[in-house]
Amino acid sequence: MFFEKPKKVSITLFAQNESIKKGVNHLFAQDESVKKGVNHLFGRLVWHGYSAINYRWGVYMGIYRSSVTKTFGILTAGGDCPGLNAAIRGVCRAAISRYNMKVIGIANGFRGLVDGEAWELNPADFSGILTRGGTILGASREKPFRPELTLGTGEIGQDKVEAIKENYRKLGLDCLVVIGGNGTNTTGYRLTWEGLNVLGLPKTIDNDIMGTDRSFGFNSALAIATEAIDRLHSTAQSHNRVIVIELMGHKAGWLGLYAGVAGGGDVILLPEIPYSIKSIGRHLEDRTAKGKSFSIVVVAEGAMSVEEDKMDKKDRKKYRLETVNPSIAYRVAREIEAETGMETRATVLGYVQRGGIPSATDRLLATSLGTAAAELLARGEYGRMVALSGNDITSVDLSVPADKVKTVPRDHYMIDTALSVGTCMGE
Ligand code: F6P
Repeated sequence: MFFEKPKKVSITLFAQNESIKKGVNHLFAQDESVKKGVNHLFGRLVWHGYSAINYRWGVYMGIYRSSVTKTFGILTAGGDCPGLNAAIRGVCRAAISRYNMKVIGIANGFRGLVDGEAWELNPADFSGILTRGGTILGASREKPFRPELTLGTGEIGQDKVEAIKENYRKLGLDCLVVIGGNGTNTTGYRLTWEGLNVLGLPKTIDNDIMGTDRSFGFNSALAIATEAIDRLHSTAQSHNRVIVIELMGHKAGWLGLYAGVAGGGDVILLPEIPYSIKSIGRHLEDRTAKGKSFSIVVVAEGAMSVEEDKMDKKDRKKYRLETVNPSIAYRVAREIEAETGMETRATVLGYVQRGGIPSATDRLLATSLGTAAAELLARGEYGRMVALSGNDITSVDLSVPADKVKTVPRDHYMIDTALSVGTCMGE
């Protein structure tokens, strides 16, 4: 059940009813002491109405539960994804309706905390946002622990961490809730070393956060990517072409693997399994020999060849700069044409994967993780990231996701599933 703060209601009730007050006073106009008594009575009623909003009274009256956290800040950082607003709503509604906490929204991720761009959020701010894509708070890729050089001087400029600590104090925060991916939860973890109380929520279409089975955003992106693969089938078939589709995922292949299997990709290339163009060529020619005149190749953006895999970091970076142009899908398409002579096209799905309304599954996950975060706030269990483990909502220490990337294990059942249905994984 969602309780509106009674503050405004009680004050408005009495303050706006000046005419009632006047009317009652008029009734007793002849008797000055009665008039005083009536005014006093109204005064007491206003006072009691106001007191009802007082947290302690709210707790006594059973409106609110007691909470260690009184005020917290909330931000969304890193790349956006569907479900961010559902998560904000989940945390804030539970925190306000159950515990009467004060919520400070912080603009554009950690940048807003550096700049002190923040404002109080009220219940009305969470109305109608469950289904909205993006984030009402804004996001950025601000990394406060990276020293900022003052342009042209090479000198270290503003100390962003100090600015964050100062604004955390000025805003009167008991805790900072950070909603984000690996980078965000890592920054959150480092801020705990600086003495701040932090709670993390895992979001990303990449699903690459250590400590949680799923991050919200993934399921929505998976649906979009799968539909794109479905749509490519008919045009590839009409033109007897190979079509390479590039999906996001950063350095992890979760999105490529899941969408590839769900969309029936003939070849799926992941960063975790370096590909051989010879193997891909053999697979495509084999399909042609079996009478299949088209093929769909799903490429995760971080995919790499066996040759690249053997290079050291520096050489690989240089090689990718030269060959991944304008992106990996185009390189793979060129390699396929050179290897097989088949007409090949490339499609990069890009930011469509991050946009629009969250799926029902992401809404449920984001809302559950959000309300679980509110419970941690109430208990004062800071320094944790809420997480999904099997079918349970749980939490892990913020050190678990910090500085790590959850990639697809080679023995993951979905890889075996893909191989079992005849998909080439590039090996
Ligand atoms: O982390 C989410 C993600 O969409 C990745 O899949 C992708 O590599 C990256 O963000 C793109 O980042 P940006 O929004 O900064 O271009």
